[in-house]
Amino acid sequence: PTGLLSDQLARPLHDLRISVTDRCNFRCVYCMPKAVFDNDYPYLPHTALLSFEEITRVARLFIAHGVEKIRLTGGEPLLRKHIERLVGMLAELKTVSGKPLDLTLTTNASLLARKAQSLKDAGLQRVTVSLDALDNATFQRMNDVDFSVDDVLKGIDAAHQAGLGPIKINMVVKGGMNDQQILPMARHFRGSPYILRFIEYMDVGASNGWKMDEVIPSAEVVRRIGAELPLEPVSANYAGETAARWRYTDGSGEIGVISSVSQAFCADCTRARLSTEGKLYTCLFATSGHDLRALLREGRSDTEISTALAHLWRARGDRYSALRTSQTAALRRGANKVEMSYIGG
Ligand code: GTP
Ligand code: 5AD
Ligand code: SF4
Ligand code: SF4
Repeated sequence: PTGLLSDQLARPLHDLRISVTDRCNFRCVYCMPKAVFDNDYPYLPHTALLSFEEITRVARLFIAHGVEKIRLTGGEPLLRKHIERLVGMLAELKTVSGKPLDLTLTTNASLLARKAQSLKDAGLQRVTVSLDALDNATFQRMNDVDFSVDDVLKGIDAAHQAGLGPIKINMVVKGGMNDQQILPMARHFRGSPYILRFIEYMDVGASNGWKMDEVIPSAEVVRRIGAELPLEPVSANYAGETAARWRYTDGSGEIGVISSVSQAFCADCTRARLSTEGKLYTCLFATSGHDLRALLREGRSDTEISTALAHLWRARGDRYSALRTSQTAALRRGANKVEMSYIGG
């Protein structure tokens, strides 16, 4: 039961995003607000997490169904003990088409300066770093744990030195919190080896108190930057790319805007998500996932698990962002939407 898959909306399966821990040492206001993620928060016990062997087995079965890109996420993936060992195991997998697997990781960079070289040596290809402001006070208000901008920049440099590029920098823009940092971030990363991407603040999870009027639409981001540093659109690198690309007309590089609220990209969404405890989610906004860990721990064969994966992907019809309005978002506030830290950014 291998071979390429297509869902109800004719979308292929191309990416697998794996959350390796539901914990993080940051408390970003849009992701793990302190009021909810406090000392009493019920994080998963170690036995609930998929082991590296289990993750690798699932990844191998996904790859047989056409996955060519794997992203490790969290929480903060570098908090998972011996993560380099998992990277090494995944780096050995080969895609169906014979292309090398695109193996990458999203991090807040707090441990990156220390780990960049060992991750590279283990076979990681690139990293994406979250950074929400260049101004230290603003950044600390966003991460809420007093982590400094300088330390993130050191982590990014270390990753670059180690050859973990091209590195993308992701900035979530929350109106009234860090939107005055759009231009300083653009100026700073222009002409650097790094690709800055602006992400619309989303109503993911159930704890960030999302409001539509705190979303700065990407068109506004492009307008603000373009007014000072002229921009022109660039075509996508590949079908289903999350970011729309823009380049500076003076040749000093490009930026990306990820408009999951103002211009949903569900029509081309090729992403499956594996939660920290091994549930498979076919949408970031799903309320329930399919328990692959149970299959693994019941001793099911590769064929049985592979058939289950194929069945789940073929049944998939999710397109939450395309259907979202402020009304549906409000209605779903009480729904059991999973947290980004659990399902993986
Ligand atoms: P590249 O391969 O480097 O282009 O990565 P990517 O853009 O596919 O992944 P990345 O983790 O960098 O995505 C950046 C952000 O886009 C995430 O943190 C989310 O905020 C958002 N995002 C990514 N995938 C999805 C998705 O499937 N749905 C929605 N609604 N948002 C997504
Ligand atoms: N809206 C948009 N992106 C989010 N992330 C987490 N929470 C949100 C949200 N509410 C993404 C950011 C961050 C990554 C770890 O998860 O891109 O960089
Ligand atoms: Fe941690 Fe990333 Fe969520 Fe911030 S956005 S709390 S760094 S997982
Ligand atoms: Fe994919 Fe769901 Fe995001 Fe749409 S909302 S792009 S279907 S993960």
